[in-house]
Amino acid sequence: MIRVRLTRGTDIGRLEAVERAAATLFRTLPDLAWLAEGRTAGPEAHARAVAQGLSWVAVDEADQPVGFLIAAIEDDADLHVLELAVAADHQGRGAGRALMQTARREAQARALSALTLTTFRRVAWNAPFYARLGYEALTAEAMPAYLLEALAAQAEHGLTDRVAMRLSL
Ligand SMILES: CC(C)(COP(=O)(O)OP(=O)(O)OC[C@H]1O[C@@H](n2cnc3c(N)ncnc32)[C@H](O)[C@@H]1OP(=O)(O)O)[C@@H](O)C(=O)NCCC(=O)NCCS
Repeated sequence: MIRVRLTRGTDIGRLEAVERAAATLFRTLPDLAWLAEGRTAGPEAHARAVAQGLSWVAVDEADQPVGFLIAAIEDDADLHVLELAVAADHQGRGAGRALMQTARREAQARALSALTLTTFRRVAWNAPFYARLGYEALTAEAMPAYLLEALAAQAEHGLTDRVAMRLSL
């Protein structure tokens, strides 16, 4: 049974471990294995999202976080998914999909016009998953400045073959 709830301030301390446990999945991809040891979002990013009511956790039976989604509102119109992570030993059971559905419901409740994200184009659990949820890849010409900036910042950190995607509501 997957339960998703709003993140509380007291959950934040556990989220780095969740993120690291999620990223171990990249060890299965030789080119991206280094991500398993990579940077994490950091407590400030989590605190910002919590303060805005834009952070959710998937929790286990003991109400402990095993996955999270953090987002931000951009251009007063888009709910931008900053990060989605589910700990490896809880993956493949619908927690990621449930977190994405929660973000979508929130964007609808706030009368926003779209959800957006950036992700790896060719990683099986990234762009293809979002495409099945209805997200479409954006061309550079169709991207708002904040997505161009996000992709540029990621490229500086060695992340290539990234794509920005949008789900119109
Ligand atoms: C992406 C992620 C959050 C999905 O979490 P999850 O709880 O496993 O997701 P779900 O069980 O809801 O599955 C979501 C979809 O991904 C697919 N999927 C999950 N794990 C997969 C894997 N290892 N390989 C291929 N596809 C996979 C599922 O088939 C499912 O597709 P469907 O619902 O359209 O049939 C998780 O894999 C993760 O944390 N990965 C590492 C971090 C990451 O890539 N985050 C996203 C950054 S954009």
